[in-house]
Amino acid sequence: MKNKIIKTLGILLIIPFVAMLIIAQESQPSNPQKTDPLKIDISLAKAKFIEAKCNTCHAFSEYSIEAKNKSPNNKATDLSKIEIKYDRDFLTKYLHKEEKINDKKHPVAFKGTDEDLNVIIGLILPHQSPENPEKNNEEKK
Ligand code: HEC
Repeated sequence: MKNKIIKTLGILLIIPFVAMLIIAQESQPSNPQKTDPLKIDISLAKAKFIEAKCNTCHAFSEYSIEAKNKSPNNKATDLSKIEIKYDRDFLTKYLHKEEKINDKKHPVAFKGTDEDLNVIIGLILPHQSPENPEKNNEEKK
């Protein structure tokens, strides 16, 4: 009889404890990072950038990515320092070697999926120069 009381009391004490744990767990993931102003998943984009080996040639100092090729002959710019004048469409073509910048095609063609390229371009686009927003690109063609 005494045992039963202790058991019931124990269970009664455990229930609110477990409930609090569940509530605490559920309220956690909705807090951080979801309100990213760029609406892209930066950590995913960084991973794709590295997976696509862009960092062989390009640093992206804003995201603490260093270029692997340290040679002074490496002409690839730190992508944090560029001020691009092109939109997503153009960059997609450029990275597929279908468009040129300063009369030169990009040295390597992107070999991954369109989806991955989109994510990577999402990292680069915020560096668009303000005088050349996406819509002004028509005349360049
Ligand atoms: C083999 C080295 C190499 C790799 C790998 C490489 N790039 Fe480049 N990239 C260059 C060079 C060199 C230039 C500059 C070409 C020029 O200025 O004539 C360039 C130019 C660019 C530009 C234009 C920069 C500007 O000033 O307008 C972008 C954007 C770019 N690369 C993105 C990427 C992305 C994204 C990747 C990965 C998918 C990548 N690059 C992989 C060498 C590389």
